Amino acid sequence: MVGIEPILYGDKVLLRPFTAFDIDDSYIGWLNDPDVVRFSNQRFLKHDRNSCLSYLASFEGTPNLFMSARRQSDDRPIGTLTAYVLGHHGTVDVGIMIGDKSIWGQGYGQDAWSTLINWLLKQEGIRKLTAGTLACNYGMIKLMERSGMTLEAVRKAQEIVAGCPVDILYYAKFHGA
Ligand SMILES: CC(C)(COP(=O)(O)OP(=O)(O)OC[C@H]1O[C@@H](n2cnc3c(N)ncnc32)[C@H](O)[C@@H]1OP(=O)(O)O)[C@@H](O)C(=O)NCCC(=O)NCCS
Repeated sequence: MVGIEPILYGDKVLLRPFTAFDIDDSYIGWLNDPDVVRFSNQRFLKHDRNSCLSYLASFEGTPNLFMSARRQSDDRPIGTLTAYVLGHHGTVDVGIMIGDKSIWGQGYGQDAWSTLINWLLKQEGIRKLTAGTLACNYGMIKLMERSGMTLEAVRKAQEIVAGCPVDILYYAKFHGA
């Protein structure tokens, strides 16, 4: 079961546990950037150092993972990933935020995503990996589909984005699939 604190290497990113030292102006800026949180309910919140420390503390003593994604070439932080593990059910729900907009569309998100989910699916006791996104988040849908996840459910018109109701799409991948 997940519970160790891994350092994972993809082709161009490395993932390591997020720490309080990672909470700097740049990280807080990502969370307050309307473009970055456009499809997330974080857009309704204002973040500061204390809210970030509280969020980090919420991972303590849990099997969940909060990872910093960094460019391998210069160790520059580019985003974060989360994995919420339900050990009794053998499931893990994963999320990603590439906060550094200047590197969007260059394959870093895909590399970070695939690296984490492939590692998770190899951990003992993990049977099913899940993730969800708004139907208008085309980049995220691409990441999930390219990592071999398949659409398993749609919650119709679940959230309002720019004044319009939008579906939430739920994707999954099973161990060994
Ligand atoms: C979604 C996200 C993780 C993608 O990260 P990224 O580093 O840009 O991802 P990649 O470059 O690896 O791949 C993204 C793919 O989606 C495509 N894409 C991105 N936006 C798109 C759009 N609006 N329409 C169509 N395709 C789009 C890119 O062109 C790319 O495909 P390609 O490799 O075939 O060119 C990143 O944009 C992000 O973190 N956004 C903010 C937070 C977020 O939405 N997280 C998910 C919440 S569920």
